[in-house]
Amino acid sequence: MLSKKVEAALNEQIKMEGMSSNFYLAMASWAEENGYAGVSEFLYKHSDEERFHMLKLIKYMNERDGKVIIPAFEQPRSDYDAVKQLFEELYKHETKVTQSIGELVGVCLDEKDFTTHNFLQWYVSEQLEEEALAKTIIDKIKLMGDDKSAWYHFDRDIASLTVTSVADEGAA
Ligand code: FEO
Repeated sequence: MLSKKVEAALNEQIKMEGMSSNFYLAMASWAEENGYAGVSEFLYKHSDEERFHMLKLIKYMNERDGKVIIPAFEQPRSDYDAVKQLFEELYKHETKVTQSIGELVGVCLDEKDFTTHNFLQWYVSEQLEEEALAKTIIDKIKLMGDDKSAWYHFDRDIASLTVTSVADEGAA
């Protein structure tokens, strides 16, 4: 059985992950509309991953007899000035998710819920990797500047960029 505090905090996180999925879906659509096929593919995949993060929480809560609240989401932003701005927003959003996971982990410790604490370690590592991925993309964008040929390659290559490939690059 989950404590009321853990239950409420998990429901908040469900909302956060669902919002992230919606946010990235809107970004994917903007990128597609503006001719960035690779960026859009990357973002559609990222949106799916966030939905998976939400589902994993829902299933965990149901397993532990918690009461899941499926939230309403605010309408996400639908326009950007440039891809650089989009990824800066994405990075900013991921840092908020990391903070929210940290708070959730804190609630579990306060409530001595070590099972949920253990379950959440997957999210702690995932956030670390997702922040690194967003940071890598922003660094690449800064390097490219207005170089059209670099942008062409970036849009082609980003579709295959994943959390795991960046972690491997870092380890190499
Ligand atoms: Fe599931 Fe990127 O937060």
